[in-house]
Amino acid sequence: MATFQSLPGFRDFYPEDFSRRQHIFRAWRHTAHAFGFQEYDAPVLEPLELYTTKSGEEIEGQLFSFKDKGGREVSLRPEMTPTVCRLVGARAGALKRPIKWFSVAEFFRYERAQKGRLRAFSQFNGDIFGEPGPEAEIELIAMLIQCLAGFGLTKDDFYVRLSDRDLWFFYLEALGFNDEQSRAILSAVDRYEKMGDDAFMSYAEAHGELDFVAMTKIKAMFGVRDFNRLESLIAADFVALVVTETARSKLNARLADWRKILGGLEAMGLKEFVQVDLSVVRGLAYYTGFVFEAFDRKGDLRALAGGGRYNNLVKKLGGPDLPAVGFAIGDVTTGLLLEQRGLMPSFVNAPDLYAVIGGEAERSAAFADIQALRAAGFRVEYPFKELAFGKQFKAAAESGAKLALIYGSEELANGVVKIRDMSDRTEREIPRDHVLAAVRDALAGG
Ligand code: HAM
Repeated sequence: MATFQSLPGFRDFYPEDFSRRQHIFRAWRHTAHAFGFQEYDAPVLEPLELYTTKSGEEIEGQLFSFKDKGGREVSLRPEMTPTVCRLVGARAGALKRPIKWFSVAEFFRYERAQKGRLRAFSQFNGDIFGEPGPEAEIELIAMLIQCLAGFGLTKDDFYVRLSDRDLWFFYLEALGFNDEQSRAILSAVDRYEKMGDDAFMSYAEAHGELDFVAMTKIKAMFGVRDFNRLESLIAADFVALVVTETARSKLNARLADWRKILGGLEAMGLKEFVQVDLSVVRGLAYYTGFVFEAFDRKGDLRALAGGGRYNNLVKKLGGPDLPAVGFAIGDVTTGLLLEQRGLMPSFVNAPDLYAVIGGEAERSAAFADIQALRAAGFRVEYPFKELAFGKQFKAAAESGAKLALIYGSEELANGVVKIRDMSDRTEREIPRDHVLAAVRDALAGG
C-alpha cells in the first residue's frame, strides 16, 4: 500500500521534534520580552503583489504562489517584512514610537532543499519602526545576539557580520561611480565569496572593465575586518583622491554612526560578537543602510540570521514615510547549531514530578495530590497501570522529571509521602498536607 510522505523540504514534527522547536521558540520569546518587544502575527497567505518587486528577484523566483478560487493571485508568505510593513503602515499614526514588534512564524520558499535550507521553515522576526538613528541598530543587534546567547551559545560559537550599504554607495560615489554602476558593483561584491573575480564579469559587460586602482580599493573595502582599518582606508582616500565636500561629509557622518553602534555594543559587553565585514550586502532588494548577518564561527552552516535597515519599504507599500530596521533568525540553522554544540536539551518536555504509587490502595491518595498539583500548574506524570517500584523509578528517570513523589503504604499510614530529588537521589519525608508547599520549594530551588 502506498504511504503518503510530506513534500520535499517540509517537516513533520513528531512530539520530540515539536518540543525541540518549542524550546527554540520559547527562548526567542523570552528574549524578545526582555527587550520590550510586542508579539504580533498575520495571515500565511497574502496577495502576490506584496512580494513582487519589493522583496527582490531571488525571493520572487521562490514563491509558492497560485490563483485562488476567486481568481486572486496569492502567495504563501516567504518572509515577514512586507507583511509587518503593511500592519504598521496601516496604524502608524496611532502607535507609540519607537514601535518594537516581534513574531515567531512559518514561511515558505521554493528553494533547492539542502542542509540548513528547507521549503517550510520558521523565523523569529524583530523589527523597530520610527527610529531613524543607529540606536535602533544597537537594540536589534543586541537582541539578535541574545536570541542566540540565550541558548548558551557564546562568542566562540557565532558572530554577527556588520556592513553598511550607505557607506558603500557614498564610498563608490566618492570614487566616481554613478548609482547604477554602484549597484552592479555591490551585486558583484555579494557574489565574490562564491565566484571570486568572475563576480565582476557582468559589471564589465555592462559598464566596461574596472580600472586597477578602483578594483584594488573595492577589494580592500570588502576585505576589511576591523573598524580602525576601515576608517584609515577612507581617510587615505580623502588625501589621495579629489573627494567633494558633500561626499566627504556623508562618509564622515556614516563613520560617526558606525562608532555609535560599535561603542553601544561594546558598552553592553557584546563587542566580541561583532565583526566589521563590508562583504555582506544582502540579497533582498529593500535594504537601505546598515545590514548584518549572523554565522556560526566554524563556517559549517548557512546563515543563522540576517537583517538590516529598510527605510523606504513602508512607504512603497502605501504607508507613511517610516524608517525601519529588523532581522530574522531561522529555526533550521539554529537547531543544527544547538545540536552540534550539545546545547539542545534532551528533556525539553520533561514533567516536574513523577508520582510513584505503591498499589491500588494508594492510588486515591496519590490522585488527590496529583490533581491539586496539576491545578497549581505543575506538570505531573504517573503510571496508568500498577507497576513494581523499580519499574516506576526507571520510568521516572526516563521522563526527565526533577522530582519523584513516592506513595507507599507505610508512608501513607504515617500521614507522609517521600519526595525524591531525581538528580542526586536524596529522599525526605513530608507530611501529606504539605505536599504542594514542599514541591513549590523544591522546584524553586532547582
Ligand atoms: P533572510 O536572510 O532571507 O532575511 O532570512 C533570515 C534567516 O531565515 C536566514 O538567515 C535563515 O536562517 C532563515 N532562512 C531563510 N530561508 C530559509 C530556508 N529556505 N530554509 C531555512 N531557513 C531559512 C529575511 O527573511 C528578512 N525578511 C529578515 C528581515 C526582517 N529583515 C528585516 N526584518
